[in-house]
Amino acid sequence: MVDDKKLRRVSVLDTYGFESNGIPVEIKVVKRDDFNPFYEVMIPGIAEYTRIILETTLRAELISEVKVDISEMLDPKKGDEVRKKFFDGALSILDKNFPNLTEDKKRILASYLLQNALGLGEIETLLSDDRLEEVVINNSREPIWVYHKKYGWCKTNLTLKDEEAIFDYSSLIARKVGRQINVLTPLLDAHLPSGDRVNSTLFPVSNFGNTLTIRKFSRNPWTITTLIKNKTMSPEIGALIWMCVQNELSLLIAGGTGSGKTSFLNALAGLIPSSQRIISIEDTRELTLPTFLHWVPMVTREPNAEGKGEVSMLDLMVNALRMRPDRIIVGEVRKQREAEILFEAMHTGHSVYASLHADNTEQAISRLTNPPINIPKEMLDALAGIVVTFRHRRFNIRRVLEFGEIHKNGDFRILHRWDVKTDEMKQVAGLSRLADLLSLYAGMSEKEIKDDVDKKTEVLNWMVANDYTEVDQVGRIISQYYISEDEIYDAVSKGEKWRF
Ligand SMILES: Nc1ncnc2c1ncn2[C@@H]1O[C@H](COP(=O)(O)OP(=O)(O)OP(=O)(O)O)[C@@H](O)[C@H]1O
Ligand SMILES: [Mg+2]
Repeated sequence: MVDDKKLRRVSVLDTYGFESNGIPVEIKVVKRDDFNPFYEVMIPGIAEYTRIILETTLRAELISEVKVDISEMLDPKKGDEVRKKFFDGALSILDKNFPNLTEDKKRILASYLLQNALGLGEIETLLSDDRLEEVVINNSREPIWVYHKKYGWCKTNLTLKDEEAIFDYSSLIARKVGRQINVLTPLLDAHLPSGDRVNSTLFPVSNFGNTLTIRKFSRNPWTITTLIKNKTMSPEIGALIWMCVQNELSLLIAGGTGSGKTSFLNALAGLIPSSQRIISIEDTRELTLPTFLHWVPMVTREPNAEGKGEVSMLDLMVNALRMRPDRIIVGEVRKQREAEILFEAMHTGHSVYASLHADNTEQAISRLTNPPINIPKEMLDALAGIVVTFRHRRFNIRRVLEFGEIHKNGDFRILHRWDVKTDEMKQVAGLSRLADLLSLYAGMSEKEIKDDVDKKTEVLNWMVANDYTEVDQVGRIISQYYISEDEIYDAVSKGEKWRF
């Protein structure tokens, strides 16, 4: 008889391939006799013994033969030059050692060698997988873990050789951003030139060994269409938020850690008209807006080892107000002064979009109005609405949990809410304060508001149906909509494609 218990033990959940810096990679996600799925990386073009030679002898040969000095290595402007030198060096070493390679194969091996000599080795392969959110190393005894968009936490078939290897990668990253990680400063928070966010800790502060946590920067920026397409929000909420952004109403994005606040902010910012000047302020650059928008991105800077040179969120916010912004985007509000400046900016006629750590609308308001932030409740009326992003850990999905409007006295009313049972977003109340604001600032009647939301919903559905998900595609359509609504709407009602 077939032992179905055994059969159940190994099942392939997924297989796919992609290219990582010119190296073709295959991935197999497998469910095994373990609690977590297993994420297996295979590099079919490179046999196991070749790989070992590449990683050891040839890598050492490459590093000793290619002459670059440390200042060249650390100069981001010289990055391409240095890579070229190493790549050419790798090709000639391969010629010497494997004279019979085809040109294609040689390039793959050279890329692999380059990745090992200059970069983060096999970690780079993981960073190239768009389906991963996080890559983490807990120590050199455990395999590298990854957080897969579809399968959650998985163990991989990759393990770093020893604690020294983890430390080497941490210091490489630290050096690239002009910092250090060592016994005296065993914690590092940095971001790679690619935008990926890195944290590293050293033993014995992290008791099991040196750690590395890399939050991958989304290579495909989030847009309103991607959020609707993957059911993060309904097209109706999308349309409502779009209407708010078009009419310069300020919004707050609240949510838990990793719930998708910044991604939502990115999608929302893509709806800003190109006629308006945008200043964004973040701790690390995560936002990516359409290339043709009038946008000045700014990032904070930590103090150096002597405690000098800090540029704080607050410094940048105060400064932004002197840069004649129309719209201000703030990565995350944490402190009282930051929130005060933000609300002052709103009260002086700027539209502001900011994120805040809070699990729902009620908590967001309570965080804003209680210590340490302590904004007077009456001041909250400068805000038109709050969007709450939510990550459901068990189902591994992200949803807009609520969208609510803020009333004059600082109270709120939820307009749309997600229902966990049916996985649908429902309108639970009609617009009241929002309707007042739109009537006041845009002269829109209730009927006009409804028609506008309906029209925008149709446009969004059409964009989703045609898969216009890229940041510039979405941006072009939105910008065109502001110039000539009819032109877009004509294409939508005829079901035509858009000629970009
Ligand atoms: N709506 C979504 N659907 C699926 N994945 C998402 C969604 N929004 C964000 N993500 C992914 O979730 C991860 C975290 O997103 P993001 O950085 O926007 O969250 P956050 O709330 O700003 O996190 P933090 O609290 O660390 O600032 C990213 O990898 C991002 O690509
Ligand atoms: Mg964030």
